Amino acid sequence: MSNPSVAELFARNREWAAAMERDRPGFFRSLMAQQRPAFMWIGCSDSRVPANQITGLEPGEIFVHRNIANVVIPTDLNCISTIQFAVDQLKVRDLMVVGHHGCGGVLAALEDRRVGLADNWLQHVKNVRDRHANLLDGVAPEFRHDALCELNVIEQVINVAHTTVIRDAWSREQKVTLHGWVYALSDGLLRDLRISIDGIDQIEPAMRHAVEQVTSRERA
Ligand code: CO
Repeated sequence: MSNPSVAELFARNREWAAAMERDRPGFFRSLMAQQRPAFMWIGCSDSRVPANQITGLEPGEIFVHRNIANVVIPTDLNCISTIQFAVDQLKVRDLMVVGHHGCGGVLAALEDRRVGLADNWLQHVKNVRDRHANLLDGVAPEFRHDALCELNVIEQVINVAHTTVIRDAWSREQKVTLHGWVYALSDGLLRDLRISIDGIDQIEPAMRHAVEQVTSRERA
C-alpha cells in the first residue's frame, strides 16, 4: 500500500480534477448549481469502506454520514441532522445503513474489549449484542463477529425508521426506502440484508425476517 505525503495528496487532487475536466468538460460547474443525490449512505468510518468507490457513484450522487460502527441513535444531533437534510431538503429516494464484516468497533463490542472513549459509543452495539444474545450463542464462534455486524445493521435501520424525520416523511407520503447492507472486506462485494422498509407498518415484520436470515445464513 502506498504511503503518500500530504503534499502528494494535493498533487493527486490536481491530477484528478484535471482528468475529470478533460473527460467531462463542465463537470464541476454543473455540480456548483445544486446537489441532487438519490441516495444517502450511513456507514462505518473504516477507511476500507468508501461509499462512492464501492458503489461506482460520482461526486453529487450519494450523501454520506459515517461514524464508528454505523450507529444511529436519536440523540445524535450530527447523524439525525444529516438524515433530516437528506430527506427534507435533498429528497433522497433510498437510504442505506451499510455495515461491514470485520468491523473493529463491532468486535470490540462483541468481546467487551476496552478501546477508550469510544467504549461509550460502542455501548449501543453492546446493547444490540445483548438483545440478540440467545441468537448469537447459537451461531458458530467463527461466524459470531460477522453475525453481530449484520444484526447491528438491522437494528440501526430500525432506529432510522423510528426517527421523527422518517416518520414525518412517510406520514406526508414522501417516498423514501430504507435498506440494510453489509460489505465484505474479503471480496469487495455488498450484500443486501433484505430489510427494505418504506412504511411504518413494515418495521416489525421486516426486522423479524431479516434477523431470521442472519441465523439461517450463518448456520448454513
Ligand atoms: Co467498522
